[in-house]
This record gives sequence, C-alpha cells and structure tokens, in this order.
Amino acid sequence: MLAAGHEVTVWNRTSAKCAALAAAGARVAESISEAVGAADVVIVCVSDYVALRALLHVPSVSRLLLGKTVVQFTSRTPSEAHEGGAWAQQYEIDYLEGAIFCYPPSIGTEEATLVYAGLKSVFAATKDLLQSLGGQVVYVGQAIGSSAALDLGAVGTFVPGAVVSFLQGAALCKAEGASLEAYLDLVCKHALPTLAVATMKSSVEMIALRDFAYAEGGGAPLDVWVGGLKLATRAID
Ligand SMILES: NC(=O)c1ccc[n+]([C@@H]2O[C@H](COP(=O)([O-])OP(=O)(O)OC[C@H]3O[C@@H](n4cnc5c(N)ncnc54)[C@H](OP(=O)(O)O)[C@@H]3O)[C@@H](O)[C@H]2O)c1
Repeated sequence: MLAAGHEVTVWNRTSAKCAALAAAGARVAESISEAVGAADVVIVCVSDYVALRALLHVPSVSRLLLGKTVVQFTSRTPSEAHEGGAWAQQYEIDYLEGAIFCYPPSIGTEEATLVYAGLKSVFAATKDLLQSLGGQVVYVGQAIGSSAALDLGAVGTFVPGAVVSFLQGAALCKAEGASLEAYLDLVCKHALPTLAVATMKSSVEMIALRDFAYAEGGGAPLDVWVGGLKLATRAID
C-alpha cells in the first residue's frame, strides 16, 4: 500500500511489530482509537474473532467508524461474518468480509489471492486500494458469509482433509516399501489434477442435480470412491 502511494497508519498491540512499516513510511498510531480515527478505510486482521470483537466491536471504537469502510480479514465462521455484517449495519459502517488465500510473503505480490464479500458499491469504491494487497482480487457477491464459507470450505476443510489423506497414503506406501517420491509424483501429477479435479467438477453438478450416481462430467460417481475407501480401509486393517 505504501509502495502504491497510499497514506498508511498502522497499529499493533505489540508496538515493536510496527517498526518495519514505520521505517517504510507508515505512521504508527498509539491506540486503536487513534488508528481508526486516522483512516477512511480500516483493514483489520487479528488472530481470531474473539480478539476482533474485543478490539473493534466496542461502542467507543465502533462510533469512530461511522461512514468509514472496514475490511475484515480475520478468519471466522460464516455466522461470525453475519455478526460482523450486523455490527457494521448498526454503526453505519461500510463493510467487506475478506479472506486470504495465500501465505504472508505473497501479500502485495501477484501470487496473492484475496476474496471479498459485501456490498458491490463498497467493493467498487475500495477496489483500487485492495488491489495493492495482492494480484488476484476476487469479489464473490453481497452475501456477507460467502467469503467465510469459501475460506472454510477450500482452506479449512478441503486442504486439511487432503493433507490427512495424503499422509495416510504415504504411510500405506512406506509400509509396503513403495517409493515415497513416486507416490508424491503420482499424487501431484495425476491423482490430484486429473482424477480428483474431474470428480470435484462433476460433484458440483451432482449436488446441483441431487444425483449422486452422476458421472457424465468426467468424474466417478460417489459409490466408486466409497469402494476405493473401503479397499484402503481393509489395507489399514
Ligand atoms: N498466516 C497465514 O498464512 C494466514 C493465511 C490466511 C489467513 N490467515 C488468518 O489471518 C489471521 C491472522 O493470522 P496471522 O498469521 O497474522 O497471525 P499472527 O501472526 O499470530 O498475528 C495475530 C495478530 O493478532 C493480534 N492479536 C491477537 N489477539 C489480540 C487482542 N486480543 N488484541 C489485539 N491484538 C490481538 C496479535 O497482536 P500481537 O502481535 O500483540 O500478539 C497479532 O498482531 C488469522 O485469523 C489467520 O487465520 C493467516
């Protein structure tokens, strides 16, 4: 943001963490009230929603945000996102729920993907500023819980499930003396991009059609995968 020429005020509970940004030209606020008072657009990202509530959802701070825009990046459940939306409405704050789909070093680079939900007019008014946070700026619509659902679905559910499955497969290969390099290669080059992606694509159609034997999209029907899982379970036994 500084590199893009924006005026930036930063605040962190541990003020030493602001030093690098101060050296890069940011103004350091002494308190959260001073920080939100200084900005037209407030971007917040703390550990969890409990911390966010304690920081922002207090009347003395909320009142300072009247007519401003808050872009919220803290990980949260969809119902917490709804809570944030209601809070913003109560205090007449323009509000976007953001979700971060990258690691911190990618922020500000072309590799970053950041997803936003909220009023289209708020997104349009903030888009140029948000562009300086990352290359892929994705607007997913007005439903305030949708970025949280996409975040929890893709990162919170799919990735850990895939990693646990990967580890289980690695254990199976290791027990049998199969090459772990070959396993990694097969998963990355074939199982994931061809088999899994094709099935995920047809799964979206399965769900829409409520037809779980559907396989016309190129993936296998669910019972084929259930059969595969039963075989893998027998291998564990
Ligand atoms: N790291 C990632 O790759 C990544 C990717 C996507 C999404 N996220 C999400 O982004 C959020 C932040 O993650 P992070 O990796 O930046 O975590 P982090 O490095 O642990 O930073 C957490 C921040 O929250 C502040 N904080 C915590 N409790 C607070 C409180 N009660 N009052 C004031 N400040 C408080 C901390 O302040 P102090 O410095 O004083 O402790 C720190 O600035 C999380 O919700 C995470 O799920 C992270």
